[in-house]
Amino acid sequence: MKFFADTADTAEIRDLAEAGLLDGVTTNPSLIMKSGCDFIEVTKEICGLTSGPVSAEVVSLDHAGMMREAEKLRKIADNVCIKVPLTIDGLKTCRALTSDGTMVNVTLCFSANQALLAAKAGATFVSPFVGRHDDNGFDGMELIRDIRLIYDNYAFATEILVASVRHTIHVLEAAKIGADVMTAPPAVIKALVKHVLTDKGIEGFMADWAKTGQSL
Ligand code: G3P
Repeated sequence: MKFFADTADTAEIRDLAEAGLLDGVTTNPSLIMKSGCDFIEVTKEICGLTSGPVSAEVVSLDHAGMMREAEKLRKIADNVCIKVPLTIDGLKTCRALTSDGTMVNVTLCFSANQALLAAKAGATFVSPFVGRHDDNGFDGMELIRDIRLIYDNYAFATEILVASVRHTIHVLEAAKIGADVMTAPPAVIKALVKHVLTDKGIEGFMADWAKTGQSL
């Protein structure tokens, strides 16, 4: 399973890359706003921190506008992946860009039928939002299971990018289902390392090591 960091915080991205936990990055307008950085500048910086895909989202809602923005964004670096919303205009943009060899992430997916459309439009990634689905009383993981089944039925190449991941159990469940990618805030990725017995084990070894009086 590939791990993408869902953030525009370059310090956090660098930290995850150094730990070998970074296969790509996803951003969205809200994350850019949170970073307080210039969109183009920070995207350029992020693209230099990973060789994996870096999703940068268009903000126009019409096909022509999306294409205009995508043109600017894809010039930033070869690993930019254009993020478009799951609308008819977004799908048109997806088809045009992927036909031209540009990676596209179709975002804001909340149904298996929408995911089917993204695959038919040739999306590189589809982003079902599990956390927001859960928030609204639906089962986010059931959505991932349905998309996995449909994509496998027809051997669609579109990768399932589990988004709106809020906690470590989302990661575990998505991995068990066989999602291709998950994107999560750095804090969630780092929380995956935590186990009380690991901490207790380190504590015990350190205490016994101190008793040996040796140094290394
Ligand atoms: O990748 C999409 C993600 O950023 C949305 O997450 O937590 O705002 O629902 P959230």
